[in-house]
Amino acid sequence: MDAPDSTIAKPTDKALAMATSGRAAPPATIVIFGAAGDLTKRLLMPALYNLAKSGALSDKLAIVGVDHNDRSTEDWIRTLSELRDPKTLDAATWSWLTGRMQFLQGDFLDPDAYKRLGQLLAKRQQEHGVGSALFYMAVADRFFGPIIEHLGKAGLANQSESAWRRVIIEKPFGHDLASAKALNAQILKVLSEDQIYRIDHFLGKETVQNIQVLRFANGIFEPLWNRDHIDHVQITAAETVGVETRGRFYEQTGALRDMVPSHLFQLLAMIGMEPPSSFTANAVRNKETELFQAIRPVTPSDAVRGQYGPGTIDGKPVPGYRQEPNVAPDSSTETYVGLKLGIDTWRWAGVPFYMRTGKRLATRTTEIAVCFRQAPYGLFRDTPVERLPPNILLLRIQPDEGLSISFSAKRPGPEIKIDGVAMDFAYKDYFGPLAAVGYETLLYDCLLGDATLFRRADAVEVSWCAVQGLLDDWPRNAPQDFPNYAAGGSGPQAADALLARDNRAWLPIKPERRHLTASNVC
Ligand code: BG6
Repeated sequence: MDAPDSTIAKPTDKALAMATSGRAAPPATIVIFGAAGDLTKRLLMPALYNLAKSGALSDKLAIVGVDHNDRSTEDWIRTLSELRDPKTLDAATWSWLTGRMQFLQGDFLDPDAYKRLGQLLAKRQQEHGVGSALFYMAVADRFFGPIIEHLGKAGLANQSESAWRRVIIEKPFGHDLASAKALNAQILKVLSEDQIYRIDHFLGKETVQNIQVLRFANGIFEPLWNRDHIDHVQITAAETVGVETRGRFYEQTGALRDMVPSHLFQLLAMIGMEPPSSFTANAVRNKETELFQAIRPVTPSDAVRGQYGPGTIDGKPVPGYRQEPNVAPDSSTETYVGLKLGIDTWRWAGVPFYMRTGKRLATRTTEIAVCFRQAPYGLFRDTPVERLPPNILLLRIQPDEGLSISFSAKRPGPEIKIDGVAMDFAYKDYFGPLAAVGYETLLYDCLLGDATLFRRADAVEVSWCAVQGLLDDWPRNAPQDFPNYAAGGSGPQAADALLARDNRAWLPIKPERRHLTASNVC
């Protein structure tokens, strides 16, 4: 493809773009509950570092880390520094950031911790005139409700004209419809909906945000984006990792709860929603919610579950799920799920959306394949062409971020022979590698008060509603065939059968299939 137009803004990172236009986030105190945890180390601090480096944070920012183990601020910073690669670390940025950090020992359930936090925030207000605070729940989900209740009791959720108070809540938001409703009810007693930022980290991915630009900023796609032209859509989130050290969590959760009503539905929303009237948070989220409301509740006959047995990944033998730490030797927990969804809207009536996600599959790829209707074959009846390759728009969410479009071309020669070929766009060719960890935009947007990329209460509840039938049915009908796919494979055979009964097939999950050609599409 041609070199990028110089008028196109180079940085793909919104925060960076904002910063270069001089718009740093407003002053605030970020309070991280779970400061000693994995999420803080691996994602939050690196994201804050990236934001700081691009100048997107206010000089009056402060970060307070709350956790139950006693440690000094220096110790806290030291554990975070150990994860940084000194070769790539910008020392000035790191020192700018760490100079604004403070550790506060406190039990999440102890009112005294909130009293001390309140004093600290009041001091910030007096000394620096900064009253706004963002509370980040980087804790196990059982603490979400209690921490917010404590914030409420201590008066820390109260806003004033000059001081906002916001809360970011991590995943999982509930385990089913009833628990999600209960959690919403509990936190909405303390906070108003516009103070709550429910995170789905898939919405922090540039490639996910780009789906809206692809659809709504290009004249060529949207006219085709409906049941007249699209045959079906495939959404895949394949992972090569197993459950690693998360056996205890995963046994209770499984692939359906872990991935479908959150991450995969967010991808579905981006693909399926109607155009919003603007990019304001509620305009976008109204359209998302309308789409979720139109999902026909999934029935067991349109769903497949699987569990990995021992196998080989990257040439190395790996254990089966039942042999992983903290997993029952006869576990019925699914590590793979495949679904067929129907969406009852004018745009999508009759267009199936197939979804699959699994651990220990042959390759790591998150992608969306929009498969267009075939052109009529009749014209090629008397030629050597046996079938017309399908037109597929493949959105590669990760890795190898980009997209490709496959279409038919005449193979040079005297006879009419057709090959499937593809046009390809890779982010790295235009914008360089994506340096962000995925939380930058989310943190930045929350500081700005923009909730577009966060999940609203009604969207969360209606998403659980769509899969509640499966959550009810599966525990009552324990699978007899687990494990039913080998680690390193493509998932259970039943998943292939789910599409075969509609005369369709999944795009293969193979490490070598990065670009679509005739030989490797469905
Ligand atoms: C998390 C799930 O929310 O998303 C994990 O709990 C999963 O099980 C992860 O591995 C996938 O996210 P990503 O960004 O690595 O594709």
